[in-house]
Amino acid sequence: MTGQIEFRRYLVDIDSISTHQLFADCLVIGAGIAGLCAAIEAAKGRNVIIVCKATLEDSNTWKAQGGIASVLDKTDTFESHIADTLNTGCGISDEKVVDLVVRQGPELIEQLLRWGTEFDMADGHIATTLEGGHTHPRVAHAHGDETGRIITEVLIRKVRQIPNIKILENFYAIDLLTNDNNDCVGIIGHDKRVLQIVWSANTILGTGGAGQLYRETTNPEVATGDGIAMAYRAGAILQDLEFMQFHPTTLYVAGASRALITEVLRGEGAVLLDKNGSAFMKEYHESAELAPRDIVSRAILAQMLKTKSTHVYLDVRHFNKEHFAERFPLINELCESFDIDVSRDLIPVRPSAHYMIGGAKTDSTAKTNIENLYACGEAAATGLHGANRLGSNSLLEGLVFGKVAGHEASQSTKADVSHIKHPRIKYQIPHSDRTRLDTADIRNSLRALMWRNVGITRSARPLIEAQEIISFWQRYVMDKIFDGPAGWECQNMLTICQLMARCAQMREESRGVHFRSDFPNADDENFKKHIEISRGK
Ligand code: FUM
Repeated sequence: MTGQIEFRRYLVDIDSISTHQLFADCLVIGAGIAGLCAAIEAAKGRNVIIVCKATLEDSNTWKAQGGIASVLDKTDTFESHIADTLNTGCGISDEKVVDLVVRQGPELIEQLLRWGTEFDMADGHIATTLEGGHTHPRVAHAHGDETGRIITEVLIRKVRQIPNIKILENFYAIDLLTNDNNDCVGIIGHDKRVLQIVWSANTILGTGGAGQLYRETTNPEVATGDGIAMAYRAGAILQDLEFMQFHPTTLYVAGASRALITEVLRGEGAVLLDKNGSAFMKEYHESAELAPRDIVSRAILAQMLKTKSTHVYLDVRHFNKEHFAERFPLINELCESFDIDVSRDLIPVRPSAHYMIGGAKTDSTAKTNIENLYACGEAAATGLHGANRLGSNSLLEGLVFGKVAGHEASQSTKADVSHIKHPRIKYQIPHSDRTRLDTADIRNSLRALMWRNVGITRSARPLIEAQEIISFWQRYVMDKIFDGPAGWECQNMLTICQLMARCAQMREESRGVHFRSDFPNADDENFKKHIEISRGK
């Protein structure tokens, strides 16, 4: 990367004294499960502002189907959930964090139930089901496959009822503001076409994931990795950026956006078939359909290649039709909308980018290396997932670490914005007369490049080539000053993609979701550790 790209601190010109200003004890950026839980917790005694780039309903949490994993069944144990999480994490999960998250789960899920979440019940208890990598059914769900929507609606209702939480929707957070000590003092954003500063004593990044960096993804349009990019510009340490988790089964209908087909289907008996009708998973792993996600994703790709096909199929024809419609209403409706009758037809599926394991590095109190800046949920790298995430552990992580971040931010000695000195921030970007490129075109090309070169199977040459191509685009995009979210998003996407390709190149081994065909084995001696990256380092 050139000096200018690497060292541009802000994406826009700033003069803080002539910019609209708001004040919050605690500012939460993002409104998935982590951000909403952080806001609810911080509001116990502090004034909170939540900003989100679209509406409160636009998040990865909202789209979650399978559920939320926790030890809810009497025959299950914390030790077993911890062991499954560590096994799936391939040796680099943070054991302290795993312990914390697993043990807090049941209590916080009970709280969600008390707040009105309509979890599906069996014999008076929260019903649980199975997903790959879990040795015990421990995935709670609500309204069948509408778990994310049901939980988010409860949390949204709750934040709307709390008088000291102010919600700003359609507010695009552009950059974290830092003072001369590099402490975070708030953000500059874009609200109703004007620049707006929010000064805050503490700021919590809950900006979610980055699936939109890939052509094929289960993620909503908002998931472009903005929070991670702005943390990078502010000097945060980023960790595990090479670990993008691909979900094995998303609906493949050419021209339609890729919709998640929950892993729970396989947990409850759905079978993967290739185009010749052959059930192929046993050839790849003894756990067949319930092997870890990275293995199922690679097996599907291999089978697609073997059979010269663009997709494989999920077979649920043996499910009772009425039961299926009740248990998986979202998927049933989705399939019907494409004239797929699941009792007669196979569901065409293939893998796509699903969950960003990497993000802003935090400790077990959700703190980043920047003073007054916390991170939680998909935007954070807490170390819970190691090199691979166990299905349905992400809503659990958001629930636990949202609360931790909100609590820590509200209890910190500098939790009251009236005690914070606001520096004058003045920043001017030099004019560039380099040609303007079409950012919409770059965005599409970038997503295709990431899918091809930094996708499910990686190797050195394509990873280096991806960095070269991204550097070229960066020269023409990072030197510009944009006046709206489309341009800033493109700058953020280029920044994060470059870093992801670089980290994927650095990790010369295969571990968890990161598979290198030129280094197909794990190399514990050199890589049983995290890759950290920060601006200038
Ligand atoms: O397959 C699913 O329902 C996805 C769950 C998850 O990503 O945790």
